[in-house]
Amino acid sequence: MSNSKRLRVAIQKSGRLSKESQSLLKLCGVKINWNEQRLIAYSENMPLDILRVRDDDIPGLVFDGVVDLGIIGENVLEEQELGCKFAGVGVQYKMLTRLDFGACRLSIALPRDVPYSSIEDLKDARIATSYPNLLKRYMQQQNVPFKNCLLTGSVEVAPTAGLASAICDLVSSGATLEANGLREVEVIYQSKACLIQRVAELGEEKQALVDKLLTRIQGVQQANE
Ligand code: PRP
Ligand code: ZN
Ligand code: MG
Repeated sequence: MSNSKRLRVAIQKSGRLSKESQSLLKLCGVKINWNEQRLIAYSENMPLDILRVRDDDIPGLVFDGVVDLGIIGENVLEEQELGCKFAGVGVQYKMLTRLDFGACRLSIALPRDVPYSSIEDLKDARIATSYPNLLKRYMQQQNVPFKNCLLTGSVEVAPTAGLASAICDLVSSGATLEANGLREVEVIYQSKACLIQRVAELGEEKQALVDKLLTRIQGVQQANE
């Protein structure tokens, strides 16, 4: 657990949330001298440090209290929380606020020329995904058995490569699906970025800083509405 006097915030190093996580902090008045190569950045005007990590590592860092705050997609958070739940492990964190960026959806997609009428068509299909738990929950709710094919990247290539007959991956603009000859047939989860805090007490000063940041974030988001 981090007991540093400085607030530790984990954000995505590179990917769909990085730029907007950085600009949100900037809009909240946090001054940081960003250096592409450096994975920890120190604020010059607040007792706050930024850890730049892989998005998939952020929920665990917050659950374990290694960092105080994390900016993460609900998709990654919910996937990992579900994974722990399925494994019988409890997780704890505080949801501070949903953020107004990082919108995307988790969808099932099929090759464009494969006919589709309902989820029943996917009975016993092999589906490639990096989100096995969200997919499993959805398919269980629909009562449709399927076979999981876990890929941590380039999921869209699975049907062409003969690894699976369908995929379940994030869609934002839809350009990746289009470029790989796939079409979206079911939306299973809608996601945005969110700000989470560890459950372990932060101490008065750090908590006061968190409250101040949260108020500023709400101000920034209202101004954007
Ligand atoms: C996601 C997803 C798709 C792509 C879809 O990857 O895995 O490949 O974005 O976006 P589009 O609909 O705009 O084409 P991304 O690299 O953003 O996330 P990840 O690195 O966490 O998998
Ligand atoms: Zn990722
Ligand atoms: Mg990807």
